[in-house]
Amino acid sequence: MEFFLDTANLSEIKNAQNLGLLDGVTTNPTLLSREGGDWREQAKEICRMVDGPVPVPVSLEVMGETAKEMINEAEDLSKFGKNVVIKIPMTSEGLIATRALTEKKMKTNVTLVFSPLQALLAAKAGATYVSPFVGRLDGISHDGMELISQIRTIFDNYDFSTKILVASIRNPLHVLDSALIGADVATIPYKIISELAKHPLTDQGLAAFKTDWDSLTK
Ligand code: E4P
Repeated sequence: MEFFLDTANLSEIKNAQNLGLLDGVTTNPTLLSREGGDWREQAKEICRMVDGPVPVPVSLEVMGETAKEMINEAEDLSKFGKNVVIKIPMTSEGLIATRALTEKKMKTNVTLVFSPLQALLAAKAGATYVSPFVGRLDGISHDGMELISQIRTIFDNYDFSTKILVASIRNPLHVLDSALIGADVATIPYKIISELAKHPLTDQGLAAFKTDWDSLTK
């Protein structure tokens, strides 16, 4: 499973790169607004930071409401870097834009997906990624991970190549369940990525080894 970082923060991206856990970046207007400043420069800097021999995909979201507006924005955003993936809202106009951008060989990420049928429509439109939001579903007492299982079944039934990108992740269990179900990608906030390596028994074990080593080598 690939790990994308759900952020627009440059230090978090650098830290995940250093950990060797950065397969991609997803941004959205809320994440960019948290960073302040000029969003265009911020987005360009993210694309520059992760560019390399193996380009890391960066999702940048369009905000137009019509397919035409979305396509125009996509043309603009795609100039920010060769690794840009156009993030498109799951609306009828968004599907039209997704199909048009797919025909132009541009990569797309259909976002704000909350039902398996929305995911099916996005796959039929040729989306590169589909982003189901598990945390927001859990937040209204629905089972976010059940949605991921259903999408996995549908995509496998029909051999869709669209990747399932699990979004709105709230805790390490969401990451574990995504991997068990066979999601292609999880986009994870940095705080949760940094928790994944931790276990209290690892800390206790290390402390005990250190104490015993010290007594052995005194
Ligand atoms: C995904 O690409 C989105 O940026 C993100 O996961 C949304 O999550 P939220 O529910 O934390 O806003």
